[in-house]
Amino acid sequence: MQDFVGRDVITVGDFEKEEVLFLLDAAARFEGLSRPILAGKVVATLFFEPSTRTHLSFESAVGRLGGACIGFAEAGVSSQAKGETLADTVRVVEGYADLLLIRHPLEGAAQLAAEFAEVPVINCGDGAHQHPTQTFLDLFTIRKECGRLDGLNIVFMGDLRFGRAVHSLVAVLTAFDAMITLVSPRYLRLPQEQRHVLARAGISYREMTEPDEALPDADMLYVTRIQRERFADPAEYEKVRNSYTVDLEMLKAARDNLAIMHPLPRVNEIAREVDAHPHAAYFRQAHYGVAVRSALLALILGRAEEVME
Ligand code: CP
Repeated sequence: MQDFVGRDVITVGDFEKEEVLFLLDAAARFEGLSRPILAGKVVATLFFEPSTRTHLSFESAVGRLGGACIGFAEAGVSSQAKGETLADTVRVVEGYADLLLIRHPLEGAAQLAAEFAEVPVINCGDGAHQHPTQTFLDLFTIRKECGRLDGLNIVFMGDLRFGRAVHSLVAVLTAFDAMITLVSPRYLRLPQEQRHVLARAGISYREMTEPDEALPDADMLYVTRIQRERFADPAEYEKVRNSYTVDLEMLKAARDNLAIMHPLPRVNEIAREVDAHPHAAYFRQAHYGVAVRSALLALILGRAEEVME
């Protein structure tokens, strides 16, 4: 059994490949599980930015495992509105909870929280930086939908510049011998830092502005929303906002077994008509978040053994 007890989860780089695979195997055991193994444990959600899936799937996980959740879902209802610093908030709330979940618009906020907190901190998204638990559930979904993690032909399409879910997933895929194609408007290219991660790992990748050439060979298409809230200049957003829409016509060029994923929420980058397509995996992907986050909480809080044995 890998040792997760008491660990922070700030970036995917905090975990070795074997640990990630162990977590995915653990998550399979937590699917559909309701058992009070977290009885007596309190988890605090410090969400300074909107969230539906991350916030509610963590709350669902805690509830199904018999723990308690406290917290807030927007900065305006916390004492940040009165000028309290994040460091002070963390130092106070760690006295109320056994683990902190933090989402924040600023890159590095989760790392800062972890430096001040004695209890474990899980990064639930820090600006455009990373979203590690999204990546763990993405990997869980890929393994379910594609049957394996190694050697897949993966196309990322959309906002690769600001998409923190993409940044985390690209970093992890370097360990799985993926062939990667990056489709985005030039303004929304994958940042240099992540391209260097791919290059250093010897992962071959292609970049293009249109998906036509990439789609026929893809095992998985990972679509992302163009993130209006991260643009400093609204005029730049207007130029790229409608760059791509995946529809049934586009999918005619794809393999029959293509898996279509999206971290959600979506705006218009996947047409509603695609939802009924058997390989539209994005709602299943969101649902897998409960199993993956249940396993992670139980492992970090030292309560997973009776499920794992
Ligand atoms: N994928 C994701 O992080 O969704 P939320 O912003 O709704 O949590």
